[in-house]
Amino acid sequence: EKGTYPYYMLKEIDDQPAVMRRVIQEYTDSMGKAIIDPEIIEKMTASDRIYIVACGTSYNAGWVGKAILEKMTDIPVEVHLSSEFGYNMPLLSEKPFFIFLSQSGETADSRQVLVRTNELDFPSLTLTNMAGSTLSREADYTLLLHAGPEIAVASTKAYTAQIAVLAVLAKAVGDHKGLEASKEFDIAHELSVIAAVMETIIDEKMAISQLVEEYLSETRNAFYIGRGVDYFVSMEASLKLKEISYIQAEGFAAGELKHGTIALIEEGTPVFGVITDKKTAAHTRGNLKEVESRGAHNIVIALASLAKETDQLIIPDVHPLLTPLVSIIPTQLIAYFATLQRGYDVDKPRNLAKSVTVE
Ligand code: BG6
Repeated sequence: EKGTYPYYMLKEIDDQPAVMRRVIQEYTDSMGKAIIDPEIIEKMTASDRIYIVACGTSYNAGWVGKAILEKMTDIPVEVHLSSEFGYNMPLLSEKPFFIFLSQSGETADSRQVLVRTNELDFPSLTLTNMAGSTLSREADYTLLLHAGPEIAVASTKAYTAQIAVLAVLAKAVGDHKGLEASKEFDIAHELSVIAAVMETIIDEKMAISQLVEEYLSETRNAFYIGRGVDYFVSMEASLKLKEISYIQAEGFAAGELKHGTIALIEEGTPVFGVITDKKTAAHTRGNLKEVESRGAHNIVIALASLAKETDQLIIPDVHPLLTPLVSIIPTQLIAYFATLQRGYDVDKPRNLAKSVTVE
């Protein structure tokens, strides 16, 4: 029920701190240890490569999952679009392990890949919000997102829940392998910090709404740029903006912009810079300077420890691997307010369905 909320999307954005706490509750014990079906852990540990297959927002969550999984488990991870993978399957490793990410668990593009991997007898795991869904029934294993019903077409809390559950999974596999990186990763604690930080960002709604009025009221297009996980967040942030506000938005690897796309920057083009990674912060700032000198209006979303006074959105620090869980929140609110201000239906964008059961 959306209760007093004008739109489900706003309620679902607000739900996210509670979802993080539910993930902690469902997947960790009182000592903070990750609790995951040992069979899943064994199968993953025995695999030589993890293939994440998904569509849309779930695909974007997959990229963040790859960054976390590789760091914690030392297993290489590939991320693929279901609709591409099905008909243009890459050369697979000897012992692949498949992870299907799907909020609905019903996406036909993802299912056709699962049917194929089942024929080939490869182990598979579905991360979904829907118990008993097709992808859940047909995969060997399921981990539920516990995000609660997501009604708005634009996915928000399923994205953060997918990343959180993948982080717990990474921790469980890393611990099983006795890896140092994972030993130091107190997932229950880190996710509770995330929940609190999400709350402080959500409290900034009005400031974000004003920012949107200032920078996005006239524009037809916009860019999000970042590097590494900040690039992955940029992909999701731009998808959110374009799918509901119809502002043409691109998520770009900050360093790649100058190799072509910078040609699209005009006087007043809004460019959002996402800066949460110490090793790339200076480079992304350099790229923001490049677009500014071509007329772009920059809006910077930065982690407090990397922020400058002039940055528009400053986010309290969290664990370096989990920054997407918090840097995505202002971008969800940006998409929400841009859509609201343009007078469109936030929950039901044109041409889109919540779950797509055709290929
Ligand atoms: C789309 C939805 O068509 O399917 C997106 O409109 C969603 O919001 C995508 O991200 C994938 O859906 P699912 O349920 O497989 O995660």
